[in-house]
Amino acid sequence: MSIKVLGISTSPRLKGNSDLLLRQALAGAEAAGAETEYIRLRGLNIAPCIECNSCYKKGACVVEDDYQMLSSKMLEADRLIFATPIFFMNFCAQAKALIDRCQCLWSRKYVLKQPLQTAGRDRRAMVIAVGGTRSKKMFESVRLTAKYFFDVLDMIYAVNLFVNKVDTAGQIKQHPSAMNEAFRLGRELASTVAPPPEKPINVELT
Ligand SMILES: Cc1cc2nc3c(=O)[nH]c(=O)nc-3n(C[C@H](O)[C@H](O)[C@H](O)COP(=O)(O)O)c2cc1C
Repeated sequence: MSIKVLGISTSPRLKGNSDLLLRQALAGAEAAGAETEYIRLRGLNIAPCIECNSCYKKGACVVEDDYQMLSSKMLEADRLIFATPIFFMNFCAQAKALIDRCQCLWSRKYVLKQPLQTAGRDRRAMVIAVGGTRSKKMFESVRLTAKYFFDVLDMIYAVNLFVNKVDTAGQIKQHPSAMNEAFRLGRELASTVAPPPEKPINVELT
């Protein structure tokens, strides 16, 4: 049975750089025999968390929108590739809204002590992030947030692909090493032979 790789593109712009890298990574996963699904947040309705804390009692989010569909898909997937542009040194707002809504999974696990159905499965995740400038700590916030996000999802944080100094829409196409790395890392992520890494593999390109 082939493994399921879900790609979530969070950039608000069409033909965004992180989106193009995500598509390459999914192509790599497909080349490894995986079944892939691509979802773009643009066009979906994901409200921010309203901190009502209803999930502390219910273990589910009471705000009904596209989150429920996305949550099911994220829990079903064997691999997640989550792509974001860098906005103010962090995930973009669209990505962060989805991450924050996963608070209901956090509360299910850690407040209600109900393990997710995913416990014990080999689930791994990758982050793709692209920023227009170059600075020393520009991926630090993404790294930290991703660590907690994937922990909540019961996924091993397997790999980062971070690319800096790529700004205009589609510019990443002129960066063959980033496109090739996205394909390679997507293919490797889909492997069930290699054991998951102890800490995230970090590929950072300029
Ligand atoms: C609101 C906003 C904030 C941004 N903040 C940063 C930033 O903090 N650091 C950076 O290097 N680039 C920043 N950028 C540039 C984007 O990261 C860059 O254009 C990137 O290629 C966008 O990726 P995308 O095409 O996948 O959307 C920002 C762009 C916008 C629109």
